[in-house]
Amino acid sequence: MCGIVGYIGHRKAFPVLIKGLHRLEYRGYDSAGVAMISPAGQLNVYKAKGKVAELEHATIGKDVEGTIGIAHTRWATHGEPSERNAHPHYSQSKQLAMVHNGIIENYESIRQRLQAEGYHFVSDTDTEVLVQLIEYVKTTTGLSLLKAVEKALQQVTGAYSIAVLDKETPNQIIAARKGSPLVIGVGKDDFFLASDATPIVEYTQDVIYVGDEEVVDLTLGQQPHIYRLDGSELAYEIKHLVMTIDELEKGGFEHYMLKEIFEQPNTIRASLQEPMQPHIAPFCKAKRIIICACGTSWHAGLIAKYAIEQIARIPCEVDYSSEFRYRNPVLSSEDILIAISQSGETADTLAAIELAHRYGTFVFSICNVVGSSIPRASNDTYYTHVGPEIGVASTKAFTAQVMALTLLALEIGRVKQTITEERYRHLMNEYRLLPDKIEVVLQQNDRIREYAGNLKEAVSALYLGHGYNFPIALEGALKLKEISYIHAEGYPSAEMKHGPIALISSEMPVVAIAPQCDTYEKVVSNIRVVKARQGRIISVVTEGDTQVSEESEFTMTIPPSDECLSPILAVVPLQLLAYHVAVARGCNVDQPRNLAKSVTVE
Ligand code: G6P
Repeated sequence: MCGIVGYIGHRKAFPVLIKGLHRLEYRGYDSAGVAMISPAGQLNVYKAKGKVAELEHATIGKDVEGTIGIAHTRWATHGEPSERNAHPHYSQSKQLAMVHNGIIENYESIRQRLQAEGYHFVSDTDTEVLVQLIEYVKTTTGLSLLKAVEKALQQVTGAYSIAVLDKETPNQIIAARKGSPLVIGVGKDDFFLASDATPIVEYTQDVIYVGDEEVVDLTLGQQPHIYRLDGSELAYEIKHLVMTIDELEKGGFEHYMLKEIFEQPNTIRASLQEPMQPHIAPFCKAKRIIICACGTSWHAGLIAKYAIEQIARIPCEVDYSSEFRYRNPVLSSEDILIAISQSGETADTLAAIELAHRYGTFVFSICNVVGSSIPRASNDTYYTHVGPEIGVASTKAFTAQVMALTLLALEIGRVKQTITEERYRHLMNEYRLLPDKIEVVLQQNDRIREYAGNLKEAVSALYLGHGYNFPIALEGALKLKEISYIHAEGYPSAEMKHGPIALISSEMPVVAIAPQCDTYEKVVSNIRVVKARQGRIISVVTEGDTQVSEESEFTMTIPPSDECLSPILAVVPLQLLAYHVAVARGCNVDQPRNLAKSVTVE
């Protein structure tokens, strides 16, 4: 996902665009840029790698005058995150500038055609190909910008939401959409455009939702005009939105938790930019690793135990910080303590760190909040950088913690040669595919919402998982209980027969996490045991699964992946399930009763 914003009217465009980019930053934040036509007729483009704040910094002292502009916050698809690949992109003559959200699939063949015509490309992006094509059409046919955009778009396949500036027509923005979202704001005597309504509603609540394969002409002094790609004009409806500032901050999502669940493709992408190698030297000498954490962070630690022992072959123990600090543990300078904390302020985890220091144990923390107490008390810290997590139930911080910990195991395994170079490369490749796979999982949101109503009367639920996904059973159960107040327990699949089986009845939802893995058949047998006792099975399985799906009243799927990364995928449908059940029960999802985001007391 990327975010685009545009403005044309009587206001200074720059502050409108920057504020809009901040509101859209949840859609991507690896680079940002702005293009504006100055009162003197210059088409100025400024870009920066990193967040919108970096762009603001980069534009200090620059000419940002003007009342017309377009802007972009990027989540890289084609080409690495860099200033060169950041949007807006100029055309060859620098007469046009364009921002784009989406993917032009046939960009390579168009690029080759344009190169043969003498066009040069300065970026690796599909976007630059499209703006060059528009210029090519415009100059070779003499068509207006509007008509050139229509003609160029007839030649592309893929998805786009674009906005184009032409310095020849400083009172006009042309925008278009197919697949990717685009909203137009209609002010009194000005226009806005954006990927969602959040950058618009504080100026006007009158909006037009642009349809697929539609081109919009925003010319000052006229009404908006909307055309099909063949040039025929379309009628449109102006809708009146009612949105509070609170909703605004949620980027259009009903709750922070849902927004944060949907941010995970981007946060996982951001984690991939954060190298783990600089942190691993002390681990290569460690005799033992002890992980301390609380709540959801403890579940991330449990997954790490599987990865650290299987991949890095270092003995690993996982403790609740609150237990560890009081049980007089055996510690030495040959151990390493990993403290995991989203907030960096959890009192018990901080106390566990202080205890470790007394024994000369090296402390490594995995934390989200830069400069918080836990990193300050640690010898070294890896930051997850997922941005503020506001929903009390942790989601995006958890998946980033699991990413960080499994990456740590992988890097140690590579250095200690406990895994082959081939396996390392295979797993790194699997990591790179994760953001797209999470996008696929998120597409089930509507189905999960529709089903969730079936669980709203449940009194209790059991979550079963095995191996890397046993901690996901715990996490799925925790998510459900903390926000919907339905009692839920997570168990290893095979352990169910030693107790919880007594609870199984046709009233009891049993959530089985059963992606393809070496022990899949054993998990299937456990599920059949539940089914034989009339249990209601809800499952998370790998796409294409038939055995568990046949036994289930509702199935959620994840794309195939290596077992050690499957928890990052499997938890996402469970986050959505808990969220929708809680909403169906009328619970305050973002601020569940009795809970706090950060527990700074014992
Ligand atoms: C609280 C929060 C949980 C969180 C736990 C640990 O209980 O409600 O969501 O997992 O604290 O917090 P930390 O910031 O240390 O990860």
